[in-house]
Amino acid sequence: MIKFASKNIRFLERISKIPVLKYFFVLKISENFPQINSEPVLEKFYTDIYVSNRTSKRTVKNRFPDLNEISFEYIKKQKNPVIHDVAVSSGISSSEFFDFLKSKNINSDFYASDKYAEIRVKKGFITKAYSSENKLIFAYFACFFAVDKNIFFPLTVLLHKILKKIKVPEKFDYKLLLLHPELSQKINKNEIEFINYDIFNTEINDKFTFVRVMNILNLGYFDEQKIKTALKNIKKSMKENAVLLVGRTNSDGINNAGFYKKENGQFVHLKDVNKGSEIKELIKNL
Ligand SMILES: C[S@@+](CC[C@H](N)C(=O)[O-])C[C@H]1O[C@@H](n2cnc3c(N)ncnc32)[C@H](O)[C@@H]1O
Repeated sequence: MIKFASKNIRFLERISKIPVLKYFFVLKISENFPQINSEPVLEKFYTDIYVSNRTSKRTVKNRFPDLNEISFEYIKKQKNPVIHDVAVSSGISSSEFFDFLKSKNINSDFYASDKYAEIRVKKGFITKAYSSENKLIFAYFACFFAVDKNIFFPLTVLLHKILKKIKVPEKFDYKLLLLHPELSQKINKNEIEFINYDIFNTEINDKFTFVRVMNILNLGYFDEQKIKTALKNIKKSMKENAVLLVGRTNSDGINNAGFYKKENGQFVHLKDVNKGSEIKELIKNL
């Protein structure tokens, strides 16, 4: 059945829509990920996961064509662009952004990052998947029953709570990198460097000329104080005159975002796209 599933993309596409079965197949076919090129399967398996701080890994192809165009206008004026795409999930948008800039003859040092790019798996009657912080993300029993606090059956939520309390295994059977194959190829070719970056804690000083922070500093994910902490941390990582792009894609796929420049250590507003970022007041009063 597993062999059949991993070779039959149509079957996988259907299965990936059934929450209680999804994770079983995610893990069972994970060894074959590099061969899978069906976008619905990749999207479902790489990004339909909530990580331990309750943020979603959701991302999609072709999410930022409008923002890429405007970003290019700022980046083309920079002498040696050093770009950081923050919290990229599978990184499909980073790969697209890189290709877009390349098509415009921009040579840059391009970094992509995420705190939760990897999951660690312990196989067994109950197979469990943990984040890099060793927090339980999801699990499944035998072959059918997925346990995940984001599948809203009371029983799955309760079991997730119980399993979370069980001791974390000392060793894992394997690690799974949740990166899109397009990004992995660019990493292998040294076109993009992947870094582990926690928006709240990782300290990088004075390095980047352009930083993109999309769909992570959302008021629905973090309180205002935390968002301010992250913004200050990100600001430190930017050079003087560097540009920040921050915002959120709404449920209609519209990007509400803002561009800011770091000037004398402060963020100066440059431009809003659509309604601008939902955290514009926080940025103003940072
Ligand atoms: C909704 S996705 C955004 C993906 C991409 N930027 C986009 O807009 O399509 C949010 C990402 O933030 C990552 N994340 C959550 N907490 C983080 C943290 N403290 N530091 C860095 N990344 C984090 C998650 O792992 C997830 O991949």
